[in-house]
Amino acid sequence: MPTTESMAALEQLTPLPRHVAIIMDGNGRWAQERGKLRVSGHKAGVKSVRAAVSFAYQLKLDALTLFAFSSENWRRPADEVSALMGLFMAVLGSEVKKLHRNNIRLQIIGERSGFSQLLQRKIANAEALTANNTGLTLNIAANYGGRWDIVQACRYMAEQVACGERTVADITEASLNELMSMSNLSPVDLLIRTGGEQRISNFLLWQLAYAELYFTDVLWPDFNDTAFSEAIAAFVGRERRFGCTGEQIRALLVK
Ligand code: IPE
Ligand code: IPE
Ligand code: MG
Repeated sequence: MPTTESMAALEQLTPLPRHVAIIMDGNGRWAQERGKLRVSGHKAGVKSVRAAVSFAYQLKLDALTLFAFSSENWRRPADEVSALMGLFMAVLGSEVKKLHRNNIRLQIIGERSGFSQLLQRKIANAEALTANNTGLTLNIAANYGGRWDIVQACRYMAEQVACGERTVADITEASLNELMSMSNLSPVDLLIRTGGEQRISNFLLWQLAYAELYFTDVLWPDFNDTAFSEAIAAFVGRERRFGCTGEQIRALLVK
């Protein structure tokens, strides 16, 4: 018999994903294939970001989470890092009003103290402007690392134990989960990685526990509605079991 917890997970089963996360990879190779500088691949990728947001909105997803800059991406050449920061700043400036008009809530996840004061202010303003929007939640993961996320949650928990607000016995999967990024949203159902690599690259670790993983060779600047639809179709065709048997799942579905 499924446990109460797995039953609760099963009852949330819907044919379409509610929360999709994407590792937007392949910008550099897209540019190199055209004999251009890597940064022009990042610029071309912005168009795919717009298209993916609009697709997610039309599909009525609860949340779309995009990996824009990892905590390891600081290791790239300084001119590429500063071009990426400039692009992030420009896109925040040019797109936020449009997101707001479309009732989209923008959240940035990651260690924001790594950014310039100006960028941090822009991020805070964009989040404040869109905070009460009730349509799609768009999370941009910037200076984000899955290990960082787990560490910041543990650190917060340890501080609470140290000051007597919680006891060690209060540390559970559920209480730690509340401190992880995006705990306010539906769990990630589907992770898409473009660009052909089949790895997580320190993106969401905790949150991907039961996500379906979908890898495509399409490079991020070429990722369009067709490619997104194919990923959704692959998700719909898979059987999610949450630790149960396929029979148990089917018994629930015919009820
Ligand atoms: C992903 O594209 C975008 C960022 C990491 C910011 P890449 O820049 O990693 O592109 P490839 O993998 O080199 O082609
Ligand atoms: C992952 O891509 C990070 C983002 C897409 C922002 P990378 O290109 O940085 O990952 P690795 O280096 O191939 O693992
Ligand atoms: Mg890459």
